[in-house]
Amino acid sequence: MYVCLCNGYRDSEISEVARSGVRCARRAYFEMGSGPRCGQCLEMAQDIIDEVHEEKTPLRHAQSMEAGQPTPRAKYNHGVSSQT
Ligand code: FES
Repeated sequence: MYVCLCNGYRDSEISEVARSGVRCARRAYFEMGSGPRCGQCLEMAQDIIDEVHEEKTPLRHAQSMEAGQPTPRAKYNHGVSSQT
């Protein structure tokens, strides 16, 4: 799904940059070629990046799942899975 309409960045692209070690949404955008414009997407992009890094620490992720907390991306897709 598209996260940044100004730049046409998808969640899968942001996740890929996060997996390379980037932890900041603004930095991720510059790595992808263009910085943020309106900034409306930055919170969601940061949640996606945080989710990638939480997956790298399985214990912390498992604890949040046990507590019944939704993953950051689930807050935006309202339970509908995206096909990217
Ligand atoms: S929607 Fe991403 S900068 Fe505007």
